[in-house]
Amino acid sequence: MRMLVLGGTRFLGRRIAEQAMGLGHAVTCAARGLSGAAPPGARFVTVDRDRADGLDALKGEWFDAAVDVARHPAQVQGALAALEVRIGHWTFVSTISVYADTQTRGQRAGTAPLLAPAENGPYGPAKVACERAFGDAALICRAGLIVGPGDPTGRFGSWIARLARGGEVLAPAAPEDPVQLIDARDLAAWIVHGAERGLAGPFDAVAPACTRRAFLDRCADALGAACTYAWADPAFLDRHGVGRDSGRFSLPLPLPDTIGDASRDVSATVAAGLTVRPLEETARDTLHWLETTGGPVTGLTADEEATLLAAWHAERG
Ligand SMILES: NC(=O)c1ccc[n+]([C@@H]2O[C@H](COP(=O)([O-])OP(=O)(O)OC[C@H]3O[C@@H](n4cnc5c(N)ncnc54)[C@H](OP(=O)(O)O)[C@@H]3O)[C@@H](O)[C@H]2O)c1
Repeated sequence: MRMLVLGGTRFLGRRIAEQAMGLGHAVTCAARGLSGAAPPGARFVTVDRDRADGLDALKGEWFDAAVDVARHPAQVQGALAALEVRIGHWTFVSTISVYADTQTRGQRAGTAPLLAPAENGPYGPAKVACERAFGDAALICRAGLIVGPGDPTGRFGSWIARLARGGEVLAPAAPEDPVQLIDARDLAAWIVHGAERGLAGPFDAVAPACTRRAFLDRCADALGAACTYAWADPAFLDRHGVGRDSGRFSLPLPLPDTIGDASRDVSATVAAGLTVRPLEETARDTLHWLETTGGPVTGLTADEEATLLAAWHAERG
């Protein structure tokens, strides 16, 4: 295939380009060139989707398949207007943040209610508007938490770095709560697989859920670390100002108020070809990447965690 990745210079987009090239496809990555480079072997075309003439560099070209990672409806509409008739199959990388109900467990992509679309809205509603622009013929790939080597957010990486140190770990909420994520390499492989087969419609693109205890234990075991866990309930974390998603002073695993986002029923995606590597492999590869590149880690420092653990023990008497 001739494949276009609108993006392709950052995390997932880069993995998609690598995966497609590994399967023998000819890949063009199109971006401004500000976030990073396209992977070796891919053709890079400079575009700027914030400009009316920003996609002119692709004028007259055709592609069997295109993948878009955009977050802004205006950029999607611009790409469709400029390129649609010359693209065989579209994949839009969306997000599970499009869903209205973040609490009910076991929801499915085909039936779960969405947020109202908003052209200039925040992330979730804007992604809904992007999805609408693509329509029914596109593969709408609603990604969950994307992890693995190269992750610029540091969310999964902070758990890996923490678990690797061993000892008592401050863990948010309850051990039986669900965790759901996907290695960017597995997601990229499924997206290319979907493009090759002309897959269409909405799918949740995330691995089947496991429990929080299994997530932490399996990662720790894979890293050869001995860990015990202090399960801190959301009220304790709120009282001590611990953030819930990412960034400084946070514990980036979803808490019960968004647990529906971490327990999606992905049987349709698995039936459509999603295969996921063992979590242990993702954990080991991520630690190797962190150690060799100094990749980003967020969350709590060792001192901050020690202070919180002391408070947790003191509150329990
Ligand atoms: N990370 C997660 O856990 C998570 C979870 C759910 C869904 N998602 C979705 O997964 C996708 C992640 O994609 P990604 O990892 O490749 O990172 P990304 O940050 O979404 O990459 C954006 C890409 O678009 C390009 N770009 C940005 N502005 C542009 C412009 N004005 N004109 C042309 N190109 C522009 C960037 O390159 P330049 O800056 O060089 O132009 C970059 O290649 C996104 O769709 C995100 O919404 C992520």
